[in-house]
Amino acid sequence: MFNTLLKVFFTLLFLISCTNNNSVSKLSMSDFGKMPNGEIIKKFKISNANGISVEVINYGAIITNLFVPDSSGLIKDIVLGFNDFNSYYQNNPYFGAIVGRYGNRISNGTFLLDDVKYELKKNNGPNSLHGGLVGFDKVFWKFIEQKSDNQSLYFEYHSKHMEEGFPGNLVVGVEYSLNDSNELKIKYTASTDKKTIINLTQHSYFNLSGESSGDILDHVLNINAAYYLPVNENMIPHGPYEKVESTPFDFNNPKKIGLDIFVDDIQLKIGNGYDHCFVLDNIDGKLKKIGSVESPVTGIKMDIITDQPGIQLYTGNFLDGSLESKEKKQYEKHSGFCLETQHFPNSPNQKEYPSVILNKGEVYNTETIYKFSY
Ligand code: BGC
Repeated sequence: MFNTLLKVFFTLLFLISCTNNNSVSKLSMSDFGKMPNGEIIKKFKISNANGISVEVINYGAIITNLFVPDSSGLIKDIVLGFNDFNSYYQNNPYFGAIVGRYGNRISNGTFLLDDVKYELKKNNGPNSLHGGLVGFDKVFWKFIEQKSDNQSLYFEYHSKHMEEGFPGNLVVGVEYSLNDSNELKIKYTASTDKKTIINLTQHSYFNLSGESSGDILDHVLNINAAYYLPVNENMIPHGPYEKVESTPFDFNNPKKIGLDIFVDDIQLKIGNGYDHCFVLDNIDGKLKKIGSVESPVTGIKMDIITDQPGIQLYTGNFLDGSLESKEKKQYEKHSGFCLETQHFPNSPNQKEYPSVILNKGEVYNTETIYKFSY
């Protein structure tokens, strides 16, 4: 009862503030930092009519803040990140970033395309991870204003032929939009002038209880996937899909992330927690809801809707308390979780996985939606 009253109160307060400035969905921007070469990093913000707002910078197209009201109407920032640009520039474990040209690992940093062997920059033991040494998370993206729509942000990046070892000049676009159905939509497009490979994803670390609130082990997760991809010691999938049934990887019925995370399981040991790709049910390239997560503390729930074949669940296993949160606490292990919609790791070397090849003349076009309720 008290909660309902509070919710009504905050909604009224919010509606009054909207009538006053009449600009709920207005795009705003501010300076956030400067690259060593002088390029100015700006922070852009869009909001919807229900009090949700998202802030993005033109470095890595990084989502720095995502504000969502909880079940009592209090606004929570539900993504991990930093308050200042230097922290993103110097030591960001991919918080909020667009990851590419190839999300996740490519074994030994090599692959064959039309019998030509490509050698990528290796940045993860023997592997190339998330695009190599300077992936799309570490570059300046051009912000292009969408005149007709003040609830979306569009960023573009031109990746050069052989950048990090990938063939083809690639033009990549990412559009973030926020609608009044509480959907944060991420639309990716790309085209190339030469056959290449591509696998883009969004690497936000979520904590639906609030970014500085501790671990996410109590969050209740559902993933509609009968199979997942077990990995070897180098975190490369063995190949074949394996059933999740009777393993800690079964999230078909919603369960707490922490319920099985510490059980004696070789895959959880290798991953130091969950760090695995799930093979989503009914892969057909169409947008569908494939899972959801909910915080029992705030009641904030996030549905995941995607057209991608896989999702990487990463439970912040390498966070070790050395990074300071936005509220000046430490990001300890499991302070956030990532649900990265994508193609399967190492697909260029696994002919049986869905193809990640982009040909000249084709348009890469994919979409993922995080939808919030509270
Ligand atoms: C990978 C992890 C990696 C992390 C980096 C995830 O997508 O699966 O292995 O450590 O990104 O933040």
